[in-house]
Amino acid sequence: MPLTPAQISVIKATIPVLQKGGVALTTKFYQNMLAGKPEVRPFFNPAHQASGMQPKALAHSLLLYATYIDDLGKLSDLVERIVSKHVTLLIKPEQYPIVGEYLIKTMKEVLGDLATEDVIGAWTAAYGDLATLLIDLEEKRYKSLEWRGFRKFAISQKVKETSDVVSLILTPKDGLKINQAAKPGQYLGIRLSDDTAFSKFEGSIRREYSISDVNHDDHLRISVKRIPGGVASNYIHDSLKVGDLVDLTPPAGGLIYDVEQNVPHKEVFLLAGGIGITPILPIAKQITSQYPNIKVTLVNSSHTPENQPFVDEINNIVASSKNFEVINFYSQSGTTSAIKNSTVKTGHLNKESLAELLKDKENSLVYYLGPVSYMISVAKYLKELGVPENQTHREFFFPDQSLTIELSS
Ligand SMILES: Cc1cc2nc3c(=O)[nH]c(=O)nc-3n(C[C@H](O)[C@H](O)[C@H](O)COP(=O)(O)OP(=O)(O)OC[C@H]3O[C@@H](n4cnc5c(N)ncnc54)[C@H](O)[C@@H]3O)c2cc1C
Ligand code: HEM
Repeated sequence: MPLTPAQISVIKATIPVLQKGGVALTTKFYQNMLAGKPEVRPFFNPAHQASGMQPKALAHSLLLYATYIDDLGKLSDLVERIVSKHVTLLIKPEQYPIVGEYLIKTMKEVLGDLATEDVIGAWTAAYGDLATLLIDLEEKRYKSLEWRGFRKFAISQKVKETSDVVSLILTPKDGLKINQAAKPGQYLGIRLSDDTAFSKFEGSIRREYSISDVNHDDHLRISVKRIPGGVASNYIHDSLKVGDLVDLTPPAGGLIYDVEQNVPHKEVFLLAGGIGITPILPIAKQITSQYPNIKVTLVNSSHTPENQPFVDEINNIVASSKNFEVINFYSQSGTTSAIKNSTVKTGHLNKESLAELLKDKENSLVYYLGPVSYMISVAKYLKELGVPENQTHREFFFPDQSLTIELSS
């Protein structure tokens, strides 16, 4: 049911409270819900709770909802991101009341005297509104996907790309086609099951991985970087073998290149930090093969030339496209690159280099993806350089930290 004008005013009046105490609220909310409802625990990544990134992502989304309550269309990117994430995790409508119950209970607990009847009434209505919106969009998305739920895939090949990146070639166990299910830039959800390795997590864990090679009817490829202390990535590197089975949810995600949807442009800058190259590589292949008149510049940041994955594949693009340029930033060492005709720079991508590249920013699109610090810096540089938001596209390998709104944490 739509909110009444009085409820909308109450929601707006809570904006300062959310700015100041939103992260404390959502941190406590997750603690309460994960303790009280063990059945939802397997869906949540403990590392995202420990780092505070998931509470921050939820606090941001509540604050943005309250801020743009009169014009929710402004939140389409955020909504798309939440829907994709929920769909790859197979979130179900019947789980929404659980989140709602704990969110409202925690508001009462954390806000104390501020949790008047009006505030609680308005946020209960607002949660219902948001939940209906998400449930409807998620149901539509589930119906549009190549398959629904988990599908078993076998590891048909394991390829070492660099000392810390391994690719998995994943082939459907049912032997049926996947009909090029993924668009370049999308990711999938994976469930790894192993009673011994994941005994602390009731035998299975879930993660998301970008699809690093699309356009095949019989397999998908993901490429995983080893993270020190990381549960899934170390298991994938050290224990998963050819022939093992994993469960995959269908490709999702809004980091896509769509000429119809994108603003008119002549150049595309693809900025990849480290393993952020995984969805960027298929986008580079897509644009250079389908739209040869668009100039594409891949700006790839790595520690060294040796730990830069996909050199041969990038060289194939260089060989087959006249409108493709590569710039390598090496932060630790390396003055030459095995990527043909590419430029090498030392250090990190900075604002000055970006300004030099984006000479014709009115006619440029920027796609970017990398580690947390990279995302924060690039978002800041693009803003300072005046690149309009509708010309920039990004994905996050961690819960969205909304780089545009400040929150106290
Ligand atoms: C859309 C999307 C696409 C992605 N695509 C890719 C991709 O193509 N390739 C890729 O390599 N990754 C990708 N990722 C990241 C991937 O999903 C995993 O997050 C990554 O592999 C790390 O998982 P892990 O299980 O190894 O680490 P986790 O176990 O999740 O740990 C991550 C870090 O947190 C620390 N940690 C864990 N638990 C705790 C705790 N309780 N307290 C303190 N610290 C803790 C660990 O030591 C580690 O450093 C993507 C993520 C998203 C959201
Ligand atoms: C109105 C209700 C909801 C809102 C506003 C909401 C919002 C969000 C946001 C902002 C994220 C982070 C997305 C990102 O990675 O950037 C997220 C992730 C997630 N959501 Fe929801 N959500 C809602 C309901 C639910 C429900 C009902 C469930 C079911 C248990 C759920 C489970 C999850 C999980 C498991 C993640 C990923 C967490 C992780 O990475 O550890 N959400 N949600």
